[in-house]
Amino acid sequence: MKKWAFIVHPRDVFDLKVASSSLGRTILRLLSPKIAISIFNAPRVLCSVNGIAGDGILVTVPILPATMYQRPKYARQKILEAVNLGMKNGCQIVGLGELTAPFTDGGRWLLDKIPPDILITTGNSLTAGNSANDLLDISSGKDLIALIGATGSIGSAVAKILAQEGKNLLLVARNEKKLKLMAKECGCHYSTAIDDIRNADVIGVFTSSSELLISSDHLKHNAVVYDITQPSNVDEGTIGQEREDVAFVKGGLIFANGIRIGADLRLPEGKMFSCLAETIVLANNGLNFSSYELTGPVNPEIALFLSDRVKEGFPIFQEPLSEKAGMYF
Ligand SMILES: NC(=O)c1ccc[n+]([C@@H]2O[C@H](COP(=O)([O-])OP(=O)(O)OC[C@H]3O[C@@H](n4cnc5c(N)ncnc54)[C@H](OP(=O)(O)O)[C@@H]3O)[C@@H](O)[C@H]2O)c1
Repeated sequence: MKKWAFIVHPRDVFDLKVASSSLGRTILRLLSPKIAISIFNAPRVLCSVNGIAGDGILVTVPILPATMYQRPKYARQKILEAVNLGMKNGCQIVGLGELTAPFTDGGRWLLDKIPPDILITTGNSLTAGNSANDLLDISSGKDLIALIGATGSIGSAVAKILAQEGKNLLLVARNEKKLKLMAKECGCHYSTAIDDIRNADVIGVFTSSSELLISSDHLKHNAVVYDITQPSNVDEGTIGQEREDVAFVKGGLIFANGIRIGADLRLPEGKMFSCLAETIVLANNGLNFSSYELTGPVNPEIALFLSDRVKEGFPIFQEPLSEKAGMYF
């Protein structure tokens, strides 16, 4: 059993600890991202998790998505600092949560900056395997599946798995050159216009954007939206009010059967991010993957392997974690 660290960042002002009062939230919303940087400028250990999931810590990078986009080099340095903090705490496996993977080239940028015996994972393999399996279930009896972010680490693996299953796909992203290559490999259509998802029966959302990209106008009657993005690209609140016919599935989550993480990740009871679950699984089960295999574009075979193994039931997903998980700063 190895000690692990999982790197997170605030997805929005609600994730910032100081934003607990409504006045604090309003001030942060008006002044962030500058204020967020000046209040927090060093990664810190958010909480420890002990018990049958092994010894683990969550380390937070104190940067909001808007700042990451404005200052990507700064964001990378802070992510590296957070990884180093994990290592200082004795962690041998480091998982990259939320946008910390996209901002480090799917983790690859970190690989020559840390000792080779530290395993880095984006957690994207399990996420991609689970998402592909979920989409296969959801799309049964339906026709067109649009995948937004289809050229990314997770989206590309999902596209390849669904294409192998003979699904009718529309791949969507901004970079046409990459899209064209993916569409050729998958034998399907592509588009750089999100508006084109209007014809889709099922929409899988896999982008690294921090913007709300999908609103009611984009959705066909009775569409199903499967979203794993953190922060979310789907304006679920408004769509929920305006479109009773549309169904949402919150993907990228795994039932962790009683595992308690001592920080509020704003997830439904009993659920955790599948990228965090992958980190814990790797720390507990001696699976022999290299950092290279677990960073960059997801290998569909590894994605399906991990998804099947977790479905079969790793011990950590059957028993509750120690209730001792606590916060410390
Ligand atoms: N729930 C979980 O457990 C979990 C686990 C891991 C990751 N995630 C989330 O999954 C998402 C994807 O992560 P990733 O590592 O796969 O990212 P990635 O490798 O950076 O891929 C991002 C994809 O999104 C596309 N994209 C970015 N901005 C876009 C826009 N405005 N419109 C359309 N397409 C856009 C990119 O292509 P172009 O640049 O060409 O547009 C690319 O295809 C992130 O939100 C991450 O936080 C969730």
